[in-house]
Amino acid sequence: MDGRDLVRSVKAVGSVGAAQGLRTVRSAWRRRRADAAALPRPEAERARVPGCVTEVEPGPGGGIVRFGRSELRIFVAVNGAVFWGWDGAGPEPSYALAGGCPEPDPRVVLEPDTAGGWRVVAERVTVGVSRHGAVEVRTPGGVTLRRELPPRWWEPPGGGAARWVQRSEVAADARFFGLGGRASGPRLRDGTYRLWNTDPQVAFRPGDDPLYLTMPVQVVVADAGTHLVFHDNTWDGTVTLREGAEGAGSGHDRAGASVLRMDGGPLRCWVMVGTPARVLLTWASLTGAPAVPPAWALGHHHARWGFGTEEEVRRIVTGYQERDLPLDAVHLDIDHYDEHQVFTVDRDRFPKLPVLAEELRRDGIRLVSIVDPAVKAAPGNAVYDGGTARDAFVRDAGGRVVRGVVWPGEAVFPDFTHPRVREWWGGLYEERLGQGFSGFWHDMNEPTSFTAFGEPTLPRSARHHLEGRGGDHREAHNVYALCMARAGYEGLRALVPGERPFVFSRSGWAGMQRYGGTWSGDVATDWSGLRASLALVLGLGLCGVPYSGPDVGGFDGSPSPELYLRWFQLGAYLPLFRTHASLRAGRREPWEFGPEVLEHARAALVERRRLLPYFVTLAHLARRTGAPYVRPVWWPAPEDRALRDCEDAFLLGDCLLVAPVLDEGAGRRAVRLPRGRWYDTVTERAYEGPARVVVDAPLSRIPVFVRAGAVLPVRGDDGGLELEVWAPAAGRSGGGLVVPDAGDGWEEPDIERYAVRWQGPDLVVEREGEEGPAEPGRPVRVRGLAAGRGQA
Ligand code: NOJ
Repeated sequence: MDGRDLVRSVKAVGSVGAAQGLRTVRSAWRRRRADAAALPRPEAERARVPGCVTEVEPGPGGGIVRFGRSELRIFVAVNGAVFWGWDGAGPEPSYALAGGCPEPDPRVVLEPDTAGGWRVVAERVTVGVSRHGAVEVRTPGGVTLRRELPPRWWEPPGGGAARWVQRSEVAADARFFGLGGRASGPRLRDGTYRLWNTDPQVAFRPGDDPLYLTMPVQVVVADAGTHLVFHDNTWDGTVTLREGAEGAGSGHDRAGASVLRMDGGPLRCWVMVGTPARVLLTWASLTGAPAVPPAWALGHHHARWGFGTEEEVRRIVTGYQERDLPLDAVHLDIDHYDEHQVFTVDRDRFPKLPVLAEELRRDGIRLVSIVDPAVKAAPGNAVYDGGTARDAFVRDAGGRVVRGVVWPGEAVFPDFTHPRVREWWGGLYEERLGQGFSGFWHDMNEPTSFTAFGEPTLPRSARHHLEGRGGDHREAHNVYALCMARAGYEGLRALVPGERPFVFSRSGWAGMQRYGGTWSGDVATDWSGLRASLALVLGLGLCGVPYSGPDVGGFDGSPSPELYLRWFQLGAYLPLFRTHASLRAGRREPWEFGPEVLEHARAALVERRRLLPYFVTLAHLARRTGAPYVRPVWWPAPEDRALRDCEDAFLLGDCLLVAPVLDEGAGRRAVRLPRGRWYDTVTERAYEGPARVVVDAPLSRIPVFVRAGAVLPVRGDDGGLELEVWAPAAGRSGGGLVVPDAGDGWEEPDIERYAVRWQGPDLVVEREGEEGPAEPGRPVRVRGLAAGRGQA
């Protein structure tokens, strides 16, 4: 047990009591014993590489290339994504794909390449396969974006699951992003990143890896182009990245490298190429459109582990109301459960939860409930009894129900990889709806089981249904939370067919966005935690999960007033804007940090509410295009290397550039602006990009810029939708898209398109319609005119 393990065990024991601590140790020991008995013993392995091409069989969109010791199936799908799989691996079954595998593109054929190799040529990408099984992804112009070397397998001589390694090279100038939520991103520097969803059991900071939501998804950005590569494999593995270096003078370039090592599972991957927007569009068409949260979920949420009573919830809500602080949702953590935990309420401390929920709803505030997967293993606990009667819980290789230790003490775990179990679990949300909850916060679903040493999860040998295929936890672990999200989402759809569910989950995997969002887990309360908060949101967005946000103020300890305020100001521009903290942490209400912080926090809340129509628009556009709300500043110009290396600012949609303050004591900061004119939204001063500018960042606000020509949908004083139009530079035009809120149902609002242009000294704003330009039909407020006209 190293020092870190000790901290973890103390945390686990400290949180659940001494008796529970003993159970924790016992459960870890049981887990190890189960694995030792049920998993294949390590034995001599045989190494294998594909060998030489022997024959080729053309098929739809590509074909099969046979080698001496393996075969490669490759095709281009109609959405432009390229699939290849070794050793007979096809695209299905897959937990990532939404609605199955897209059809092959009939226009694409497998044809001879140079030096005895083969290739497929599609509109946006060419993929070459060498005689020895290297796979090269090239732009239509022939520039190599990625070269995957022939894979290597290690397998038992008598057959069985193989470990494998896939080495790849990328351009010397390339930068890596993604791999799910990584605290040390968004740019993934040299190092090894693990693919195994993990509760670190301590508040995390940059450098802690892995965290709750990992994904084998890399977004690679280089001068030659952007690509996303997804190795569709749910097993445990690692990715080792090394950025390349360009040789100075006559020196050689050193390519960037990625080495993917997997403990088992299929060797198959999808690649998509193009601009960042194109890549994310293709990714969403493959893995599913992001769910659109109800508008209230795009407002401000206040959570806390340990409200403890209904009175305390009322006190907090009144605190917001008395101080004119906008509030849209309150989250109840596990402390509102009774001793049986999930799907229960402690009636002594929360005697009239439905009444409280109704009162809050009248004030425009929704209640959100935590939902943990662990079910207290106690006869008499209705969820346990119901699950036992349905044989819903994960069993070990010997057929015994697996027990772990979580908040309720000894607990069992639903097997969410079984459709029947998902359906049962989804039905349990009826109890939550009856209590008045409107949204659901899935927690501890890596899944976590406390342990005094080793891995805090289920035994690797635990058995799972895996949609009928059967398998063990090595394969099911990383999709446990994804399947739980599906259970919750589908259950809610069946229970309340007229409303869009609001689900967000700590853990997940590729495709998570179909069911909802995530949050960044228990981030450490210090300036490095603040930085990590932004890294996670950016990384997850690039992996296709656009709705996320941190625990504003950090999860543990007590932030200084300055840190709290800077976190609050950042959170106000992130999709999930939620204050939350641990049971033992200091307060997180905006009025707990003195009058100055309160005043500035109020300004952030008011601005967030004003921007609500913009967030609604971004949520709808994410659903239609896969583009995350929060984007790296290189999104529109990935070829700009300075932007590629910028990690402390982000674009919020097409219109805004947000430059949070991430350093203690900073009253000014440098901001790198992409091409074009940008206005400081407060001073209306115009700046011309590309440029690095230094601007004021007083405690009262973080710098936010708006693109000249932007049409920003905002909430007017009367609550209606207004258009805030920012003057284009002289001789330039502008415009934008607006998607109005159509309520919490399934109605698909039309996209409104606006155009902005100068006509002499006047600025004209028009709505584009089928019959040509028309009046905007909404109140318009023009800003930035002084700078715009000044140069006209
Ligand atoms: C862990 C979660 O990350 C945290 O947000 C929550 O407060 C605790 N579990 C207690 O439920």
